Amino acid sequence: MEKVKVIVIGAGGRGTVYANCAKENKDKVVVVGVAEPRDFFRERIVKEHGIPAGNVFRSWEEAARREKFADVAVVGTQDKMHVEPMRAFASKGYHVLLEKPMAPEAEGCREISRIAKKNGIIFAVCHVLRYTDYTRKMKEIIDSGAIGEIVSMQHLEPVGYWHFAHSFVRGNWRKESESSSMLLEKSCHDLDWIRYIMDCRCESVSSFGSLKHFTRKNQPKGASDRCLDCKVGAECPYSAVRFYQDRIKTNSLGWPVDVITSDLTVDGVNKALRDGPYGRCVYACDNDVVDNQVVNMSFEGNRTVSFSMIGCSGFGGRRTTVFGTRGELYGDSDKIKLFDFLTGKHADIETKSPEAGFLGGHGGGDPKLFAGFIDAVAAGDSSRILTGPDVSLESHLMVFAAEKSRRENRVVEMKEMYRGNL
Ligand SMILES: NC(=O)c1ccc[n+]([C@@H]2O[C@H](COP(=O)([O-])OP(=O)(O)OC[C@H]3O[C@@H](n4cnc5c(N)ncnc54)[C@H](O)[C@@H]3O)[C@@H](O)[C@H]2O)c1
Repeated sequence: MEKVKVIVIGAGGRGTVYANCAKENKDKVVVVGVAEPRDFFRERIVKEHGIPAGNVFRSWEEAARREKFADVAVVGTQDKMHVEPMRAFASKGYHVLLEKPMAPEAEGCREISRIAKKNGIIFAVCHVLRYTDYTRKMKEIIDSGAIGEIVSMQHLEPVGYWHFAHSFVRGNWRKESESSSMLLEKSCHDLDWIRYIMDCRCESVSSFGSLKHFTRKNQPKGASDRCLDCKVGAECPYSAVRFYQDRIKTNSLGWPVDVITSDLTVDGVNKALRDGPYGRCVYACDNDVVDNQVVNMSFEGNRTVSFSMIGCSGFGGRRTTVFGTRGELYGDSDKIKLFDFLTGKHADIETKSPEAGFLGGHGGGDPKLFAGFIDAVAAGDSSRILTGPDVSLESHLMVFAAEKSRRENRVVEMKEMYRGNL
């Protein structure tokens, strides 16, 4: 069978993850092109995949001007740069694997869904959590009727204190005007996952949330605006010096330290901390996204879900309890516990993904999503995709409804959001 040909649009963090996934599936897929303005990132992919010079571009615009020369465009550009490449590549007949969020506003998401359907392409949004072994197991148990009918669910996303500080206080997703809301950026995965597990439509949403901690007024006395100069850093759990230098010292050179500099030495990191955004005090940044948020959802059939996102958290791993009419299920993104009301018995279920290293990314979701997408393209069968245009639009609209609720301090009906699109 002919290999599926892929072009990587935006060879940053995510584009590179999927290019690596392609390498692991050499018999089925080949990266034949790349579009990326940053030399280091572009050349890394060119070298790894032996891409001919004619298929190397400095922007998606340049790549889209060429006649179609691949089957799939993997769009891994930043949030605000999804609609245009989607339109350009889909209208040329490329199948598109698009990073989440589809777009920072509801209208952009609606547009992407329309483009995918109009062009009849195979399309998926990278909601990687749907594809993990853990999710598959959880779904299998629920679908088997082991806990009866779902009545309610509690789902927690503890982002983690250092991850929150890195990405949402100092990093790329700290400011809504430059990326999107916290809920869309990080928790659109969760609302999508909740929709998948509930397996029915959300009807109404309410939400509260705020930026409570990472503000100037909480800066400790005597702290400096740069961690390298800080006299109280030893007492600060968010010290950038500790985060990044410790990783260099222990030779942990991947994410997140490779985001702050490509010079992965003590000196290189010191320079990045001195000059770049990642050396700033967490209380002296230009961040505005919330650090805690709750969302309550009412689903069809009188079912309820509560979701919490929290930045100041230490125990990693999303945690979920599903309450059914005949039993209860608890999962921590790794192990699942099942309690049966009738027998009073407990069962512990392991779901560890066999993949290791980067291929274990998102609990094995990254490679499984990618492999599923490539299989769907090879077979011309989009039923192999768990995250097509309608379902992704629906879960994105849940996020926008929650944000609307938080800002307007009212319950939002999902009907308001659908506008005949779903
Ligand atoms: N599925 C997930 O779990 C997940 C995880 C992290 C990020 N994301 C999403 O993936 C997307 C990318 O995130 P990232 O962390 O890889 O960001 P990144 O900044 O590392 O990568 C984006 C790349 O796009 C490149 N780019 C900019 N302009 C371009 C142009 N005109 N043409 C081609 N490339 C261009 C940038 O140079 C950069 O290398 C974002 O939408 C983000 O929200 C998804």
